[in-house]
Amino acid sequence: MGRRRNLATHSLEATEASSVKNEPRAPNTLNDVIERRWSRRDFLKDGAMLLSGLALAPSVACVTTQVSNPRNARPRRTACDLFGPVDPSILDSVSLPDGFRAEVVLAWGDPILPGAPEFDWKHQSVEAQCGQFGYNCDFIAYIPLEATGDELERGLLCVNHEYSVGSMMFEGYKDRRDAFHRVTKEEADIERASVGHSVVEIRRTSDGWQPHKGALNRRISLYDTEIIFSGPVAGNPRLQTEFDPSGRKVIGTLANCSGGVTPWGTILFCEENINDYFSGDLPKSHEERERANFQRYGMHESPRYPHYRYEERFQLDKHPHEANRFGWVVEYDPMRPEVAPVKRTSLGRFLREASNCVLDQSGHVVVYSGDDDYFEYIYKWVSHRIFDPKTRSNNVDLLDSGDLFVARCEDDGSLEWVPLQHGFAGLTPEQGFVDQADVLLEARRAADIVGGTKMDRPEDVEPNPKTGRVYAMLTKNKYRSAENLDGSNPRANNQAGHVLEMIPPSKGEGVDHTSRQYTWDVFTLGGVQEGEHAPHENTLANPDNATFDRFGRLWISSDGTQDTIKTADGIWVCETEGPERAKMKRFVSVPIGAEATGPCFTPNEDTFFLAVQHPGHHRKSSVASSTSRWPHGDPERPPLPAVIAIRRKDGSPITL
Ligand code: FEO
Ligand code: CA
Ligand code: CA
Repeated sequence: MGRRRNLATHSLEATEASSVKNEPRAPNTLNDVIERRWSRRDFLKDGAMLLSGLALAPSVACVTTQVSNPRNARPRRTACDLFGPVDPSILDSVSLPDGFRAEVVLAWGDPILPGAPEFDWKHQSVEAQCGQFGYNCDFIAYIPLEATGDELERGLLCVNHEYSVGSMMFEGYKDRRDAFHRVTKEEADIERASVGHSVVEIRRTSDGWQPHKGALNRRISLYDTEIIFSGPVAGNPRLQTEFDPSGRKVIGTLANCSGGVTPWGTILFCEENINDYFSGDLPKSHEERERANFQRYGMHESPRYPHYRYEERFQLDKHPHEANRFGWVVEYDPMRPEVAPVKRTSLGRFLREASNCVLDQSGHVVVYSGDDDYFEYIYKWVSHRIFDPKTRSNNVDLLDSGDLFVARCEDDGSLEWVPLQHGFAGLTPEQGFVDQADVLLEARRAADIVGGTKMDRPEDVEPNPKTGRVYAMLTKNKYRSAENLDGSNPRANNQAGHVLEMIPPSKGEGVDHTSRQYTWDVFTLGGVQEGEHAPHENTLANPDNATFDRFGRLWISSDGTQDTIKTADGIWVCETEGPERAKMKRFVSVPIGAEATGPCFTPNEDTFFLAVQHPGHHRKSSVASSTSRWPHGDPERPPLPAVIAIRRKDGSPITL
């Protein structure tokens, strides 16, 4: 979803902090940056890290005539030659290349638990929503299961539901703000039940993918799911509230944007825009450091959601610790629906987009994440313990103990992962950090102090399983000015975003994800801005989520291209190596008003799942005025956020 700008005060603090750590500071123009970067490339070209490609060129689109008969010349097709062109127009439909088909697998309101009624949007109830697929789907994981009947494939779809929109869910509201002020308690309860997460068994027959009410189906919501805290912050006084004096459990999860899958097959999903749920000022008597914490996390802004009017725990003046109980990574086991999900505090608290895991050669688990706000950070977490591939249960608490780092990119192309470790680099009691729990709870403020690099809104951060290089989707930052450019965020008024490539050092046959020293490169700039070369209408802009296929191609979803490059949001694919590195090819266009989220392949890469989030939505939209009626086309019904399955019509793998 889109972001309002966070705190002016934190931007000021942030600039001061980084200007101390990152001297000499940024050049003033994009040309300066390009010059500096090319100089660096000369400097590095004899080194171990050969940085090939198209750094600092605007996103270059595929021009298929440049690819000479690749079917015969190469063992596989390149991204540019995988399929034909896609209509980039803003339509109320999903556009695909010739030879592909898409079907809706799950849409908002589909009953997924036993006893749940069919969706009746005009007579929706909390009880119904608790057994139905939630609203505004985002992250998708697919967990394959053994086929047991006549189906061709069987698996679990694990799907986030990021946020609710009253004016698009209920009748009679003019726009989002109107609904914010006027929704009833019953409607607000329905909204809380509609966010969170769904687990749904799906089966593929010759008729396509269909949901089943399987024994593993599950809803996790903000309304009534009990979630346990674990790790260094569990039980901390700053998590204790009147409703939970133990500080060890909380009702629900919210703002669930993207996520990840652990090497032992559990699901991670993240809590992103937590500040949109809380209202009010802290009590005057409250400790001063808590005031700094709340300001740094944007809690003083007016919320987007109405829950504080009906549920006291969202009122900061009455329950000032409740907001500290959100902003974490939630882990659950999709094979054990009877076990409560767990918030793993060791990974730190911020407005977290995703948590992408990679198993390092050493056996340590490494988790990459971004904090999706203007001038926020990229983080890495490294487990203390080693993954046990033989006994799954030995990994149950592996995420409870590890080290958290923030990325600092220097303009010479080096990247240092700076530890957020209590007692070092200013993370001391004098700064309000009594112990490591305080550092984790206020990871943003800790990252300010140690001098992390302030990025252009980090969304997904994905490791490439083939090369080990790590790619951060930096979606945009219109507040970046010529005065605060740096090499890794080189564009003023960055409306269309860019992709940052982070390169771990080589080790043996692969790379070392535990190293503190990487290098970085700008993989591609999104869109085309004034004074830049305009390559093609297929140019990527506003990267958000990403995934890789088995060949190491990068598949990127977008959020916001309707505003920037005036085409539908969708999916792009590119090579990350070779002569076509970073050349973008559009794969999907999603319906008007929607963003494309949660790209996910089945292991055989025959099916590509994609979430269509908020079709028809903009600030002023309502059920009556929506520009979209996707996917049903009925003008009397609201559009439905939904997960779709995309396949080739002949059933062959998408990536071959
Ligand atoms: Fe919810 Fe960062 O997108
Ligand atoms: Ca986004
Ligand atoms: Ca996102």
